Amino acid sequence: MIVLGIETSCDETAAALYHSEQGLLAHQLHSQIPLHAAYGGVVPELASRDHIRKTLPLIRATLAAADCLPQQVDAVAYTAGPGLVGALLVGAAIGRSLAWSWGKPAIGVHHLEGHLLAPMLEENPPPLPFVALLVSGGHTQLVDVRAIGDYQLLGESVDDAAGEAFDKTAKLLGLPYPGGPQLARLAQQGHPGRYRFPRPMTDRPGLDLSFSGLKTFALNTLRQAESEHGTPLPQQLRADIALAFEQAVVETLIIKCRRALHATGHRHLVLAGGVSANQRLRQGMAEVLAKEGVTTHYPRPEFCTDNAAMIAYAGWQRLRLGESEPLSFKAKPRWAI
Ligand code: KG4
Ligand code: ZN
Repeated sequence: MIVLGIETSCDETAAALYHSEQGLLAHQLHSQIPLHAAYGGVVPELASRDHIRKTLPLIRATLAAADCLPQQVDAVAYTAGPGLVGALLVGAAIGRSLAWSWGKPAIGVHHLEGHLLAPMLEENPPPLPFVALLVSGGHTQLVDVRAIGDYQLLGESVDDAAGEAFDKTAKLLGLPYPGGPQLARLAQQGHPGRYRFPRPMTDRPGLDLSFSGLKTFALNTLRQAESEHGTPLPQQLRADIALAFEQAVVETLIIKCRRALHATGHRHLVLAGGVSANQRLRQGMAEVLAKEGVTTHYPRPEFCTDNAAMIAYAGWQRLRLGESEPLSFKAKPRWAI
């Protein structure tokens, strides 16, 4: 069975073809980062318009790359939410219409289910059950994945998502959008120990998280440092702040993941979502958990951030369970996993 996946929930347009026996056949992605960079964040209307321009050409390019004809596609999976409603509507309308015109089933996929199943596309996929840490620009969640489609939310951020905190702190440090990877790069030059940020909500039991305080702490640290060392702050001190911030996020996430693993008794952890591309997080988590007999799994870096390979895969899993959409299509900007 060949599933065409379409992703348009935010600022990436993507298409992919997943074959149930041969695996991923092809995937293509167009990033809107340059389009939104001038505004310092995603402009929803510009995102929708760009998805309209790019989705069909990307689907054509993906079919060509896989040497696949439209009539060989057995089903269409599109991201139905959560995300920006206008952006979602583009992928949903195109996906549903193509499936109808080809006489094939369509399935609306949960974007976060796509992220948490993304490591299944790798060489050594995680065995079920596992704990998943979803860390993206919009979500920070710990999920007990017992089976495909059987997800229990264990905890989530009560305010900002981890990626959002990365992006906002990066902006404070004068780094361009999207700030997460830029901040991580700056932190590589940082001296450890010059600054220390708190580890929010780790001093009490529970699996919820909070990241908005770290961003405020970064602002206060920056102001204090500027009053002592002048504005603009020397590059080394900016790097030291970036490192202290990154270490705080990483350590907090590690503490919470250990708790979630103890609570569930699972031996495998999946890191997914844009922030799971962060090297300090990947290495730190794997190192700490290996000592406890837990294996950490992550997607290849390009499948940590938004992509259609994960949507095609999650769609195939749903179709296997006998699910499909009626002739109407759905776009759900808010949708609990
Ligand atoms: O999953 P994703 O592509 O989009 C959402 O669904 O949100 O995640 C994007 C987020 C952004 O906040 C971005 O700054 C962050 O992931 N991110 C990173 C890194 N790469 C991407 N944050 C920290 N370190 C990175 N290397
Ligand atoms: Zn995402």
